This record gives sequence, structure tokens and C-alpha cells, in this order.
Amino acid sequence: MNKLENHMSNLTKAVPHLVDSIIVRGEGAYLWDHNDRRYLDFTCGIGVTNTGHCHPKVVAAIHEQADLILHLQQNTAFHAPMLRLMEELRKVVPSELNTFYFANSGAEAVEGALKLARQVTKRPNIIVFQRAFHGRTVGAMSLTTTKTIFRAGYQPLMPGVFIAPYAYCYRCPKAEANPEKFGFDKDCNWALEEIDFILHSQTAPWETAAILVEPIMGEGGYVVPPKRFLRGLRKICDDYGILLIADEIQCGFGRSGRFFAFEHFDIIPDLLIMAKGLASGMPLSCIASKRKIMDETVPGSHGGTYGGNAVSCAAAAATIKIFEEENLLENASNLGKKLLHRLKEFKDKYPVIGDVRGLGLMAAVEFVKPNGKIPDKEKAVAVKNACIETGMLILTCGTHDNVIRWIPPLIITEEQLEEGLKIFEHALEKTA
Ligand SMILES: Cc1ncc(COP(=O)(O)O)c(C=O)c1O
Repeated sequence: MNKLENHMSNLTKAVPHLVDSIIVRGEGAYLWDHNDRRYLDFTCGIGVTNTGHCHPKVVAAIHEQADLILHLQQNTAFHAPMLRLMEELRKVVPSELNTFYFANSGAEAVEGALKLARQVTKRPNIIVFQRAFHGRTVGAMSLTTTKTIFRAGYQPLMPGVFIAPYAYCYRCPKAEANPEKFGFDKDCNWALEEIDFILHSQTAPWETAAILVEPIMGEGGYVVPPKRFLRGLRKICDDYGILLIADEIQCGFGRSGRFFAFEHFDIIPDLLIMAKGLASGMPLSCIASKRKIMDETVPGSHGGTYGGNAVSCAAAAATIKIFEEENLLENASNLGKKLLHRLKEFKDKYPVIGDVRGLGLMAAVEFVKPNGKIPDKEKAVAVKNACIETGMLILTCGTHDNVIRWIPPLIITEEQLEEGLKIFEHALEKTA
């Protein structure tokens, strides 16, 4: 047994690895392993390192803060990086969402938002969507419907969760049956009608605290819904006094070409959940809320030992500044258009690709069996593995794992994007 295999046997099997490599260094869009092999990293730590690996300004902020104070329990006193971070956050969130709660992970923030919604509305239930991913702790897992692998063996889960279809137009049963009338570009409200049906048949509005939605779906398949879907959710929430919670853990922090994905849809959620890209790799998550909502929460009723860690907050404040200083949104938007254009050309050339979609540098290639829409996991995994062999890390997603997701860092250059596209086309050819 070599050294890595030796250690692997001491690690839980619950967490699989994309590559059996020891990564020793990361810089920008690249990672290097212990054999000095270089990888183009288009996984971005699953949407975390949006500013690239070890951005020098983030690293400097971490060094500087580490010399001052590492941990200050948030119940004890305030620390300067958190105040600085709130100042930076106020520049990028809508002015209404000016009250914050800090935690460590995405799931923890999701749980916090769920508790907050229940406490202030005094309603028990929550509506989520098919294929959604919100985390792996028991509460967050109960809201997660992406795949049975995330739930099997852990059930029964938290009650009070009602599941509606997401506006996944490529796989919409209505659009498949009647493409003239239903679909992304049509005046179709089917997914919204289903929510209305749930509110009439399963959870009454007066017992529904919140609708929790990923404005662009991540783990479930990188699905961009039509604008009217999110606008319709906003209206339903307004009509019934239900809170609209946007989980921007994967689609936020510039990923879509706007700071937050909900901005594409002209809505403002009542609660906004962020993590991943927030601190460029340091553990930190945040709920931004309308003041009147957080003001109603009961002091002492929620919290955590490490929430809003000083070093993580310093990294996050530096991260937000980088967005403006280095025009990351513009880069994500411009290169995102190029990426989508090139992926659509691949779709025209390779019949194994059933759908290409995306916004900014958040793009999906969905693999299907020829002459139909049957999900082709084998093909997606083969293409992914061929990319890895040639030196590019990339991930699949979707309920059937038949979607390859593109999550390059937002600092990539056109040349690096081109390098990734070349590797991808080579993988398509090799696996044809
Ligand atoms: C949309 C979304 N919500 C929540 C989570 C959970 O975040 P974490 O893994 O930090 O708990 C994820 C993680 O992938 C996510 O993509």
C-alpha cells in the first residue's frame, strides 16, 4: 500500500473523491498535486473559489487578521472584520436586506433561515422544489430532494416539508406533451400552478412559513428557470404573507454574471442565504434579511460557537472588494456568453448532448441517449473522466448525474476558458 492508500483507509467512505491525488498548491485557475501535475480546476471547490485559488488579496487579509485575533465568540463581543464585512455586504445586497446573521457552512445558514422563518411567521411548513439541494444536516437534508443518496438510510426526516416541481423546462412533462403551448419561451405558468395547488391541497397559506428556492438550481442540474417563475413565486409569497428565501449558496457571489442570481429575475427575496464564494474558501455563511424579519427574532434563540469567524470575515471582506477592483462580474458575464455559445456549438455537433444552458460562468451540458431524452449518466461520467485524464477537473450534477457542470473561477482568462473547451471537446471525441 502506498502512503495515500494507507491514509485513505482511515477516512470515512461517506465522502468520495473526484481524484485520488494529494493537492499541494493552488493558484488562480490551477491546482498542483504532489507529483507536480497541474490541473485546470473547473470545479472551483464546488463553486467556492470564485476569486481563484489563493487570491493574493484574500491571502494577505487572512495573514493580517491571523496576527490580530483568530476567534472571538460572537456572543462575547464584536470584532472589526465582521463590521467591515457588513459594510462591504451592504454595497452588494439590495438595501432592504440590511440585517445579517453569520454562520459557518451553507447547511447551517439554511437551518438558520428555516428557524427564523418559522419563528417570525409562527407558521410550521415550508415549500421546496424537486431536485433542490440545501445541505446535509437533518433539517437541510429534509429540504433536499436532488437524489436519494443524500436521504437514503437517514429517513424519516423533518416533517412539514412540501415539494413542488421546479421550472426545469427541458424536462417539463407539460412541454414534452405540448411543446407549442408550454416551455421556457412560452407563456406557461405550470410550475406556479402546482404551488397554488399545494397551497390548496396540502399546506394552507396560514401554516406555510416560507418558499425556499435556488434562483438558479445548482446540484440538481444547473437549471435556469424562466423569469416569470421567480416573479410568480414572489407574487404568491406577497399574496399570502409567505417568506421567499433565496438559497444563493451555489449560484451567488458573481457566478451568474450578477452579484446574486435573483437580480436576473427582478425580484428581491425576504431572506438571502450565502456561503461558498462568500469567503473564497474560508468557512463562512450568512443570512441577509429584511430588518423587520430579523428584528422579530428572539434574542438568544439562535447562534453558534464559530459563526462569523474573524479570519473568515476578513477573507470575505477582501473577496467582495476584489469583485469591484477586478471587474469579476463583467468577466463572468462576457466569458459566460462565450462559454454558452461554444457549448451550443458542441450540442449541434454531438447528439449525446441534449441540452446546454447557463448564465454567466454557471453552465450545464446535459447528456442523453440518442433519439430521446433518457439521461445518459455513463456518457457524462466518461466525458468527465476523460477531462480529468487530460488535466481538467470538472464535476457532474443532476438527479441522474448526467449533467456536466461548468464552474470555472470568475478570474479566468479567455485563454484558460479556451484551454478547458479544448480539453472538453477532446473528451467528447475520445468517448464518441
Ligand atoms: C444551493 C446549496 N445550498 C446549500 C448547500 C450546502 O452548503 P454546505 O455544503 O456548505 O453545507 C449547497 C452545497 O453544495 C448548495 O449548493
